[in-house]
Amino acid sequence: MSKAQKKLQGTRHRSSLKKPLCVVLTVSVISMLLICTHLFPRHGKKSSCNVLSRARGCEDALSALLPAHIRKLTIKEIAARAVVRDILRTPSFQTQNSKIAFLFLTHGTLPLELLWDEFFKGHEGKFSIYIHTSKELPAHISPHFYDREIPSDEATWGRTSMVDAEKRLLVTALEDPENQHFVLLSESCIPLHTFDYIYRYLLFSNVSFIESFVDPGPHGTGRHMEDMLPEITKEDFRKGSQWFTMKRQHAVIVMADSLYYSKFRKYCGVSKLGIEGEKNCTADEHYLPTFFSKIDPMGISNWSVTYVDWSERRRHPKTYRAQEVSLEFLKDVTSEEMSVHVTSLGEHGDELHWPCTWNGITRPCYLFARKFHPDALDTLVNRFPNYTSTVV
Ligand SMILES: *[C@@H]1O[C@H](CO)[C@@H](O)[C@H](O)[C@H]1NC(C)=O
Ligand SMILES: *[C@@H]1O[C@H](CO)[C@@H](O)[C@H](O)[C@H]1NC(C)=O
Ligand SMILES: *[C@@H]1O[C@H](CO)[C@@H](O)[C@H](O)[C@H]1NC(C)=O
Ligand SMILES: *[C@@H]1O[C@H](CO)[C@@H](O)[C@H](O)[C@H]1NC(C)=O
Repeated sequence: MSKAQKKLQGTRHRSSLKKPLCVVLTVSVISMLLICTHLFPRHGKKSSCNVLSRARGCEDALSALLPAHIRKLTIKEIAARAVVRDILRTPSFQTQNSKIAFLFLTHGTLPLELLWDEFFKGHEGKFSIYIHTSKELPAHISPHFYDREIPSDEATWGRTSMVDAEKRLLVTALEDPENQHFVLLSESCIPLHTFDYIYRYLLFSNVSFIESFVDPGPHGTGRHMEDMLPEITKEDFRKGSQWFTMKRQHAVIVMADSLYYSKFRKYCGVSKLGIEGEKNCTADEHYLPTFFSKIDPMGISNWSVTYVDWSERRRHPKTYRAQEVSLEFLKDVTSEEMSVHVTSLGEHGDELHWPCTWNGITRPCYLFARKFHPDALDTLVNRFPNYTSTVV
């Protein structure tokens, strides 16, 4: 028996696995070893795997292919799990005034500001607003509208630094201990309900609203790369919209993570030139959905509270113009109780649907919607009292 096999067996004896499972595992581990011996010498990068000469290298390569509950965790993973576990166990810190932090990720304009003014009016003290811009904000945006402007480092602005921008928004908003829930929005987003409705929906929810689903197609699992192993396997890989809302604990966990994020930064869309260029992987669509499905799957909703229309099946979602925002359309979106998730399987993609539940009860899915063209502003402001009046 090779050193590697002995080592692996030793590891398993220490865990309290039942006998039949142990036999199955031994057989599969041995077959994996055999496969490994045959496969890896042919792989340029991992050619160090040769059971006879470099047993240790082979064990690592083999271990990387095993799911986390069977293989030995790396020291970084053990550290990450300990930190996450302790943050999740800490009861949330209650303040007198809980606020919701609205984080706007923009390209330098906020064309629907008047609608948001209408939404926030009369609720001072219950919200904070942070704006991340790629350019300086135009002078017409009133400084009273927001608490803090966070200019981006222009050189790094691009699809790949989206997550960096999200993290900068989160870290700034975390400085205020009264911010208890964090909402990421874009300049083309609109509110679908009254402030009070959204405040209660988010603050009293027992989960964060982060979309996360398995897309078995080329723009989902197809973007996984072997370099992400062992921490992120193909089975772990998830997809979801970047427009999240999250509880304070989850925001702290995102700040604490460097292990998983470094993998995504490196292998999921750092530049258009590198290896990831071929796969078009975008960290903003995969990092948080994958990370949370690994570290706190029960703590997220798996659907996003921001409605978006992919029905045209183009590279970008549909943008609604003034003539399309009828009261009927707005009421349909506000009362929708099934979430839609579009995969990249097949020519036109597949749709997954599941009902939206809030603390165990079925409720409408959407609190916000995108994308709305600036020319829809007047219509939206006029209709705001009407489409938000239905208490569902
Ligand atoms: C990546 O994007 C480019 C440009 O949009 C496209 O031509 C190419 O087919 C995409 N690759 C994959 C694997 O989707
Ligand atoms: C979200 O999906 C994960 C699987 O990735 C599942 O384990 C979890 O239960 C789901 N969360 C909820 C709230 O249904
Ligand atoms: C949220 O509440 C529902 C209904 O009470 C419950 O089934 C679910 O386990 C809760 N989730 C968490 C993460 O506490
Ligand atoms: C919109 O609301 C106003 C005031 O509540 C009401 O007078 C008006 O009839 C409503 N319009 C529509 C189209 O429902």
